Amino acid sequence: MTPSRGHDFRVFPDSGSMSRAAAEFVITHVRNALASRGSCSLVLSGGATPAPLYSLLASAPCRGRIRWPGVHVFWSDERCVPPDHPESNYRLAFDSLLSRVPLSSAQIHRIHGEEGADRAAQIYEEDLVRFFGDGPLPMFDLVLLGVGEDGHTASLFPGSALLHERERLALPVHLEPPGPDRVTLSLPVLNNAARVLFLAAGPSKAAVVHEILEGGNPKGYPAGLVRSIREGETWMLDHDAARALTGTLKEA
Ligand code: 6PG
Repeated sequence: MTPSRGHDFRVFPDSGSMSRAAAEFVITHVRNALASRGSCSLVLSGGATPAPLYSLLASAPCRGRIRWPGVHVFWSDERCVPPDHPESNYRLAFDSLLSRVPLSSAQIHRIHGEEGADRAAQIYEEDLVRFFGDGPLPMFDLVLLGVGEDGHTASLFPGSALLHERERLALPVHLEPPGPDRVTLSLPVLNNAARVLFLAAGPSKAAVVHEILEGGNPKGYPAGLVRSIREGETWMLDHDAARALTGTLKEA
């Protein structure tokens, strides 16, 4: 079987080699955006998978290959916790990347989760409109995403009514306790990105990765609904996350 059309995926022996390839991918697309428009809008995802990537981008030689003053950093989603909270996606990015590269506060578009989901979504949406203008949907140059074992991405969870949102850019996500509420970019915004890079590592992701990339996403997993209408989406997988794949490309 071959992967669903439009899903470019690459398998690496381990998460380290996947992260190094992801760093090269990010540098290439950020530099292309900077070269063509003098600026780049980069969306970071949360979760644990991208942390090694963020550290690589903040270290030599990667760090010096990006002209950071042109880069604006956003988030795919955030938990409604203070920015110094262990569960904060901002804190993850700050510790591994933002505190180690020359970005001004104006270039860091944090989701103010501590304000509560509804207010934080409104503030984020206002920030997006200020940055992209009040015209058509924002078009991020590059969106980084992960995938949960349940097929969620960003904070768009399976079966959520938020998956049918067509107007709003940023959405409040009210979850059952104990998990904190969240804020997420909406599916139309994710799909309007110039390019999307998914990272998935570990055996717990193998089943959803197979269903999305080779099975046609029969359960409508949110991660499989992200179909960048421009340059498409690339999936980078380590061996364990790819182990349920049967397509010929798997050997690539
Ligand atoms: C979040 C993330 C979320 C994440 C997946 C995968 O805030 O939780 O944005 O969508 O990417 O849950 O998380 P791991 O990389 O930790 O497996």
